[in-house]
Amino acid sequence: MMKIVSGNSNKPLAEAIAAYLGLPPVKAVVKRFNDMEVFVEIQENVRGQDMFIVQSTSFPTNDHLMELLIITDALRRASAKRITAVIPYFGYARQDRKPGPRTPISSKLVANIITRAGADRVLTLDLHAGQIQGFFDIPTDNLFSGPVFVRDIKHHNNLSNTIVVSPDIGGVVRARALAKRLDVPLAIVDKRRERAGESEVMNIIGEVAGKSCILIDDIVDSGGTLANAADALVAKGAVDVTAYITHGVLSGGAVARITSSKLKSLVITDSIQPTEAVRVAKNIRVISVATLIGEAIGRTSREESVSSLFE
Ligand code: R5P
Repeated sequence: MMKIVSGNSNKPLAEAIAAYLGLPPVKAVVKRFNDMEVFVEIQENVRGQDMFIVQSTSFPTNDHLMELLIITDALRRASAKRITAVIPYFGYARQDRKPGPRTPISSKLVANIITRAGADRVLTLDLHAGQIQGFFDIPTDNLFSGPVFVRDIKHHNNLSNTIVVSPDIGGVVRARALAKRLDVPLAIVDKRRERAGESEVMNIIGEVAGKSCILIDDIVDSGGTLANAADALVAKGAVDVTAYITHGVLSGGAVARITSSKLKSLVITDSIQPTEAVRVAKNIRVISVATLIGEAIGRTSREESVSSLFE
């Protein structure tokens, strides 16, 4: 039988997933000792069960990663039949290659640790780079928020005047897939990052004048990429600019940057639990991936196809 356990990173999402599956979340304590060590106690029998741990490795990333590892260890020692780490937002994904000599590939290290802790499978969403799937030597499903975004975009936009825009060259494959699903054209912001931590918009490839632009990306962190892309698109005559971004990391002054930017709205998913500042921001809206992830969990447990969710 499948069972859902939640860490502390995103309890509302875990509860919504459990509700979709019609299951009560497993009774468990995931707390800190005084020195901030993580302590876990699973408070019901899980022997022989098909366990799904819902835990995004979002801020504070290392604490949430450690919770995931220790819950996995607890379940393994409690004789769970199979353990799936459901990681809606996989932190450390941006460290997926060596940007220079003597730097780590932290995504691979984190994948190794999760596997070593005892996870049998991984279920994640919009990985920063598809090849990170291969960093895990256990079955790893990478879900796409595409269908959730397409539904919302169709509901809120007149597609006859819409163009999908990739905010940088690295995101073209993702944006092209969405443009194809919506049957609208594609434009690209050719961004050059002159110094680490800064982003500079150089050029727009494609015709955006008179169009409603929809920026697509996997992560919004500082918000710099989006704010600069919105400036560049408006300067080229775009009617308005909306962004659909899967993971709202939104660190530092990101919410203020988004609020004061030229973005009409930013739509993110609840892969990361939204802060109060995000919830009250006037141009940020959160849509849920609970049904998508819940359906994928149900199918995994019943040994049914997950890829058919995206056909
Ligand atoms: C970069 O490769 C990612 O896809 C995002 O574009 C980036 O992480 C966004 O970061 P920021 O919001 O800090 O510009």
